Amino acid sequence: MFTRFYKIYLIIFTVVWIPVGLLQADDGSQLWLRYDRVSAQIAALRTISSKSSHASAQLAVQELENYWAGQHIELVLDQRKQSWKDGYQIQGNSQKLRITAYQPIGLLYGAYDLLRRQQVGQEFSEPFEVSEIPTFDLRVLNHWDNLDRTVERGYAGHSLWLWDELPGSISPRYVQYARANASIGINTVVLNNVNASPQILSSTYLQKVKVLADLFRPYGIQVYLSANFSSPAVIGGLDDSDPLRDEVQQWWAMKAKEIYNLIPDFGGFLVKANSEGQPGPQDYGRTHAEGANMLADVLQPYNGLIMWRAFVYNPTTEDRAKQAYAEFLPLDGQFRDNVIIQTKNGAIDFQPREPFHPLFGAIKKSKQMVEFQITQEYLGFSNHLVYLAPLFKETLDADTYAYGSNSTVAKMTDGTYHQQGKSAIAGVANIGADDNWTGHHFAQANWYSYGRLAWNHTLSAADIAEEWIQATFDKDPNFVKPVKDVMLKSREAAVNYMMPLGLHHIFAFDHHYGPEPWGDIPNARADWMPWYYHNASTSGVGFDRTATGSNAVAQYNEPLQQIYSDVATCPETLLLWFHHVPWTYQMRNGNTLWDELCYRYDAGVSDARHFQKQWDELEAYVDKERFLDVQKRLAIQSHDAVWWKDAVLLYFQTFANKPIPHDIEPPK
Ligand code: GCU
Repeated sequence: MFTRFYKIYLIIFTVVWIPVGLLQADDGSQLWLRYDRVSAQIAALRTISSKSSHASAQLAVQELENYWAGQHIELVLDQRKQSWKDGYQIQGNSQKLRITAYQPIGLLYGAYDLLRRQQVGQEFSEPFEVSEIPTFDLRVLNHWDNLDRTVERGYAGHSLWLWDELPGSISPRYVQYARANASIGINTVVLNNVNASPQILSSTYLQKVKVLADLFRPYGIQVYLSANFSSPAVIGGLDDSDPLRDEVQQWWAMKAKEIYNLIPDFGGFLVKANSEGQPGPQDYGRTHAEGANMLADVLQPYNGLIMWRAFVYNPTTEDRAKQAYAEFLPLDGQFRDNVIIQTKNGAIDFQPREPFHPLFGAIKKSKQMVEFQITQEYLGFSNHLVYLAPLFKETLDADTYAYGSNSTVAKMTDGTYHQQGKSAIAGVANIGADDNWTGHHFAQANWYSYGRLAWNHTLSAADIAEEWIQATFDKDPNFVKPVKDVMLKSREAAVNYMMPLGLHHIFAFDHHYGPEPWGDIPNARADWMPWYYHNASTSGVGFDRTATGSNAVAQYNEPLQQIYSDVATCPETLLLWFHHVPWTYQMRNGNTLWDELCYRYDAGVSDARHFQKQWDELEAYVDKERFLDVQKRLAIQSHDAVWWKDAVLLYFQTFANKPIPHDIEPPK
């Protein structure tokens, strides 16, 4: 009896509940890769062919076999097309398409291009032709993953890399990760934190790294490691790690040999040196160039590269925003050809809004790359929906005036103005072991858009958002449009409810989640305290970086120096970055600074609430699991926006001595 009921129950459960459950459950683990598998009948109507047996070409064939519902496709390698690099061309008609590439990986990129077009329902023109050559050669993800699987500034669970299980056991997520990256053109990954454990270079860990490198190779992904400059002393047993000592150089040379024996296409090292307590060449009285060049020489025989970070500052009386420029500009031209200076997008630290780093307009004889932060250390972690493509674009499109107008940061780093050898761009990854990879479902869009912009920095934030929404959620315009609007507004909303008008770094100490403009920790470094940045007093607020203050404006080329120096011409979005102004200062719309600040914070809160309402109206378009998860996080975001507004305004009010306005127009 029991058995019979049990069986009936099981049948009902299987037939009814499991499918319903499955329909409703979408953990987001598929990211944007939601291609429909084609039926055997459709597959039988077309052929996918490639003469190349290269693993990347074969992956391209496999992806198209599985998901391409269109015409015949021929994949062709053309050795004459060297200038295409890892790009591709797709040509053809309704009967047949041909993907041509110089490198096998170009065929895979071409395959993903077609699948993306199919996924968003693009009509293929007749005849169809598209050519793509990536704007940056190295499209890099920097993982800040530690060997104990914690992730520095990671908000999506633990590290993907199961170091304890490697090399013997291989998580299926490694290949899923590689596939996701390849689908958006990311071709370089730095596996470990820039605050690097020397152990990553031990023989034990290198065996583990090799496994990942082997898995990633068919997807066109090259592996780099963050190297700790003290490795020769810490794991090599040497007395010190002075880069000019023979023994130290020999240790690195032996290490390089060991690495390249295991991983012949190993990319190279990323180095954070003499920054925030990390060791570096200055410990031995050597310069950044001497340190970087020593490592560059060691890797040169293997075509390895050194990405050397310019994120340096010390607790001196000098404005933190000026220090990297002051230290690196005198070294311009001294770096080897296989060194790239990796510079954060802004001179402080991945703030919700910063002017572009002045080094981008200054370094002319060395190679340089931009480092963005995809993980939202200063943008609400994985709780806030903040679409970052507008932030990335703002920096990439910023004009440095290094060679007259239109010398954008993108052009200063993509090889347009300087022979870059290999041009590069980096993003600090927001990926972790969470089912949906990034914590917030919408944070997937930041990984996606970073990759798409690294491939082609001229794409628009709006187009990328649209593409991502269609691929990840739904193609219905009634869904796409409002979601796109939310995404495109979200970065400015976050700036408004956190730090409008050029305010910066008024975060709670260390964890950087909520507001703490009053923060004053006894004996803590002054440059880690919010007051250092906002300088609020009864006389006003803001950091004077003009000639009467730190004169950081002098690090920018003309006409920017002039524009930023003059309070009348300085963009109001950067007003308090460059100027200390009275609370009664009159903004261009006629409001006083105080009133404008109040309205900005309020506008941020209203936007966050609007995002909630908007999402609630879209319930019918989204599976339950993702709908509820996003809904929950939007509620946190709204709550936090109010928290920010109240905290900052009430604190500043103690200096401004003004009421919160009720009767003037919000900002235009
Ligand atoms: C920020 C961040 C640190 C990180 C550092 C870096 O300061 O808070 O966690 O190590 O950037 O980029 O090196």
